[in-house]
Amino acid sequence: HAIDLVVVGSLNADLTARVQRHPSPGETLRATELNTSAGGKGSNQAVAAARLGARTAMVGRVGTDAHADVLLNALRADGVDVTRTLRDGDAPTGTALIAVAESGENTVLVAGGANARLSAADLDAAHSVLVEASVVSLVLEVPVATVVAAARAAHESAARVVLNLSPVVELPPDVVALADPLIVNEHEAREILHRNGEHPPGASVTDHAEALCRLGARSAVVTLGAAGAVVSENGHTRHFPGPAVEVLETTGAGDAFAATVAWRLSLGDTLATATRWGVRVGAYSVRYPGTHPSYPTCDALSADFPAATSEDP
Ligand code: RIB
Ligand code: NA
Repeated sequence: HAIDLVVVGSLNADLTARVQRHPSPGETLRATELNTSAGGKGSNQAVAAARLGARTAMVGRVGTDAHADVLLNALRADGVDVTRTLRDGDAPTGTALIAVAESGENTVLVAGGANARLSAADLDAAHSVLVEASVVSLVLEVPVATVVAAARAAHESAARVVLNLSPVVELPPDVVALADPLIVNEHEAREILHRNGEHPPGASVTDHAEALCRLGARSAVVTLGAAGAVVSENGHTRHFPGPAVEVLETTGAGDAFAATVAWRLSLGDTLATATRWGVRVGAYSVRYPGTHPSYPTCDALSADFPAATSEDP
């Protein structure tokens, strides 16, 4: 494989306002700070993986506006191959309006823009890159039909599919069956299970992860923020706790987690080992503001969160 990871997904300009608390409907509040930065679940994954050392390509769409330049330059600066990230003259670059409250809680409003126009034909155009990939990572901020086509194309070229089902949508069973792993947070897990009539009251995260496998995923990971992640695979379910950290901003932590898992799987790690890596990278990132700027290089990661020396397989 000439490429470790191909990310098929979204690129957004993140306009992040810091607020004391979130406004209620109809209310106007003063923000204390505003930052514009490169984001989007797809671009976050691509940068997180590339910064750790993965050979990474991004398949996506941006507009022809200034936000597009910010995004493409950010990805290039981290060595991401953006030759398959198209500029769309008819739509603005995707934009996320993010409010971060003092409590650390976020609200995010995403205007898809060019992301909504990523098509199956774009994947055909990216074929030569997709067939080189060891792992293809998918996020749902682009059209479902494109994600479906990408999963099937990845399968045809024997690439492993990492599916971050965020935001939650209905997917055909054959696509869910390719997810290895399916990665979701607790909220998303509950939503998927609820939609499928599988949400017994009082169910634990372990139950959720196992239920996601019963729905057809080859393996499932439920992320728990600061508490780490729960992995279910081949009938075994385990919790991988996160290191204690002071949380500044969680935006993009899940993307960094998914990207790290995808990259480690491309290197042949077990899902358990890949998840340990993902938990460390996620923990690293929540200590800093923003998404891309908060992701570590491998050296920075080992300096702050050294890998345990005796990790069981
Ligand atoms: O997961 C975080 C991302 O979600 C942000 O970068 C924002 O663009 C939204 O898509
Ligand atoms: Na962060």
